Amino acid sequence: MKTQITEMFGIQHPIIQGGMHYVGFAELAAAVSNAGGLGLITGLTQRTPEALANEIKRCREMTDKPFGVNLTFLPTVSSPDYPGYIKAIIDGGVKAVETAGNNPQKWLPAMHEAGIKVIHKCTSVRHALKAESIGCDAVSVDGFECGGHPGEDDIPNFILLPRAAETLKIPFVASGGMADGRSLVAALALGAQGMNMGTRFIATKEAPVHDNVKQAIVAASELDTRLVMRPLRNTERVLRNAAVDRLLEKERTLGSGIKFEDIIDEVAGVYPRIMQKGEMEIGAWSCGMVAGLIHDVPTVKELIDRIMLEAESIIRQRLGGML
Ligand SMILES: Cc1cc2nc3c(=O)[nH]c(=O)nc-3n(C[C@H](O)[C@H](O)[C@H](O)COP(=O)(O)O)c2cc1C
Repeated sequence: MKTQITEMFGIQHPIIQGGMHYVGFAELAAAVSNAGGLGLITGLTQRTPEALANEIKRCREMTDKPFGVNLTFLPTVSSPDYPGYIKAIIDGGVKAVETAGNNPQKWLPAMHEAGIKVIHKCTSVRHALKAESIGCDAVSVDGFECGGHPGEDDIPNFILLPRAAETLKIPFVASGGMADGRSLVAALALGAQGMNMGTRFIATKEAPVHDNVKQAIVAASELDTRLVMRPLRNTERVLRNAAVDRLLEKERTLGSGIKFEDIIDEVAGVYPRIMQKGEMEIGAWSCGMVAGLIHDVPTVKELIDRIMLEAESIIRQRLGGML
């Protein structure tokens, strides 16, 4: 399958693995790239630019295919060493960067000069338009279904994607709720040039996370996610567990006066314990509604091959046969 996204990133299939904190290590990124998609190392999971440089090196030892780095610009006061991370990406010869969070404008000239294609993650058409206007090469449009931060507009992909298609000039991928060949064909039909998956890639053999995390996703249905941190305007879709119930109770009782400090136990620094030690009840971790469509833990290659076969069969047989 050839789309503007496969051409832009030099990949075989229009499938991207979104940045995921404490999931997007070299092992997963390389597995996705080796299977013909675009794998992404999650930049900020690496504590320092030196650690990121090393992770890029490790990934290159595992694949000779293109891979990228996710760089999330956090709305924090004490900001990470972004110039250092950008330098590690450029020096590491990476040619694809997924930016997310705050406006990446400041960093675009350096990345473009280094021949890097930048795909910015957006949860609304107006943010996507902004990304286009500042010179991003593509956008990843995250619908309300998505795991992680869906923004505050709550527009699902059945509306958001065609709105993006009628508004944008640069290519975009559909993100949020994508799981299989049906998702890919639907995304293409709605105007996207490919799809981005987060949650689905966690439940794969190569995802370097504790098996408890994978089994929790397989066991979950589409009813099992919750939105937390809405009163802080930092909404995150997470899998329901004891910590999430506690957090939501605090949100109910403290109301609009709630502060980040009130929920720090449930959200700060919990990822390593969940993802690496499998302590599933200790905090809130991102997970999409798409968990309801995830029933197994295949290898990344099995997953991607299955998606492409299913997509082709839907296009040629199911849809073609209706004409
Ligand atoms: C566990 C987890 C961690 C994530 N961490 C990040 C992150 O650090 N930066 C980012 O830009 N997106 C992050 N995301 C969002 C994904 O890149 C992707 O946009 C999202 O998962 C797509 O929705 P889906 O889960 O329905 O496929 C995360 C998602 C999950 C599930």
